[in-house]
Amino acid sequence: MAAAELNDNKKTRLVLILVISLVCGMLILGFLISSLIKKRELKRAFDIDVKDIELPMFDLTTVTNATENFSLTNMLGEGGFGIVYKGTLTSGQEIAVKRLSKNSGQGLQEFRCEVNLIAKLQHRNLVRLLGCCLEGDERMLIYEYMPNKSLDHFIFDQHRKTLITWRKHFEIVMGISRGLLYLHQDSTLRIIHRDLKSSNILLDNNLNPKISDFGLARIFGGDQTESKTKRVVGTHGYMSPEYVVDGKFSVKSDVFSFGVLLLEIVSGRKNWKFHHSDHHHNLVGHAWKLWNEGRALEVANDIAELLLVESEVLRCIQVALLCVQKLPQDRPTMASVVVMLSNESVTLPQPKEPGFFVERSCDETDTLPFEETCLTQNGVTISVLEAR
Ligand SMILES: *[C@@H]1O[C@H](CO)[C@@H](O)[C@H](O)[C@H]1NC(C)=O
Ligand SMILES: *[C@@H]1O[C@H](CO)[C@@H](O)[C@H](O)[C@H]1NC(C)=O
Ligand SMILES: *[C@@H]1O[C@H](CO)[C@@H](O)[C@H](O)[C@H]1NC(C)=O
Ligand SMILES: *[C@@H]1O[C@H](CO)[C@@H](O)[C@H](O)[C@H]1NC(C)=O
Repeated sequence: MAAAELNDNKKTRLVLILVISLVCGMLILGFLISSLIKKRELKRAFDIDVKDIELPMFDLTTVTNATENFSLTNMLGEGGFGIVYKGTLTSGQEIAVKRLSKNSGQGLQEFRCEVNLIAKLQHRNLVRLLGCCLEGDERMLIYEYMPNKSLDHFIFDQHRKTLITWRKHFEIVMGISRGLLYLHQDSTLRIIHRDLKSSNILLDNNLNPKISDFGLARIFGGDQTESKTKRVVGTHGYMSPEYVVDGKFSVKSDVFSFGVLLLEIVSGRKNWKFHHSDHHHNLVGHAWKLWNEGRALEVANDIAELLLVESEVLRCIQVALLCVQKLPQDRPTMASVVVMLSNESVTLPQPKEPGFFVERSCDETDTLPFEETCLTQNGVTISVLEAR
């Protein structure tokens, strides 16, 4: 009797162990298969896109040697999806290498977007992609090297901003607006950049501006003029109200960012982080306030020589205010912006109230209608926010 019970007990335990190990085995197998499929899918999606384009391929050894084994002394900066290094090819040509950090799914998507987009674009005010490097799990983009870094190094630096004349400032503004016009309507595609900001404007030997970083850009087909996303990605201070609140983006959201950038160039101050002893507005609000008081020129009072070119400076401020108007349909297109900036005899409309014209309750708080936290701080890289 006792022996039979013991036997039964043994049997059930054996069955239990068998069942458990079977289930575990199946789970592990399922997991392995699904991750394998995922990996292959990622790889396939990537391969197809790269096959479509004619882009020179760089060997890993060439890039490794050029960047001295990706040494930290050659690091130029850290972007949205990886580190950027400076390199020198054996020919003496200088390059900038953007290396995608491994296991970055989001980064891979941005990388693909950048490869697909920028390879098809050519304009003197867009940064030029020389090629890419895809070996093993390495994903790298190789650009022409920009010796004068990005615009934010100049305009926000007390000393360096005095090195460039107002004429050069104005040429930089014109260059950016022509580059953006090309993206919006002059290339064969209609492209929304979505992350236009001072640190994404690179400067070449002669301080010609080049728009860079197309990782967040979107292509519009045919008659499409607007799109919507649930994943609002961009940089604080540059995003338009309809994009932040509803996730809607269009050429007019880029125009908003351009307007902010233009005010930053004229004033030498950052929109996000702007402080004034008289009020709690950001730079846009500050400019709007001065405009209504007939003191718009004071927006630019940091640049001494500006009094000589008063009309040009005022024109820039007025165009900037037109670009940052609250309603997208009130904002001009980049084609009008280029005309308004370059032709002194064109009469400009009166700007209406800008977007985000709300006074901050306290200096350090967020003006945006968000409860969510952002991943990174003010402008250095990218803030990811979910639209409500
Ligand atoms: C590596 O770089 C050095 C200079 O830094 C150069 O002399 C050498 O030829 C390069 N080697 C290869 C394989 O490119
Ligand atoms: C790069 O690393 C390899 C092997 O790790 C080494 O042989 C080579 O000397 C290094 N080159 C430089 C320029 O540091
Ligand atoms: C821009 O870069 C060139 C080449 O490196 C340099 O000669 C020039 O001084 C730089 N301009 C400024 C304003 O720093
Ligand atoms: C500038 O604008 C005026 C008035 O709209 C126009 O008559 C003139 O042709 C424009 N000049 C240029 C160079 O486009």
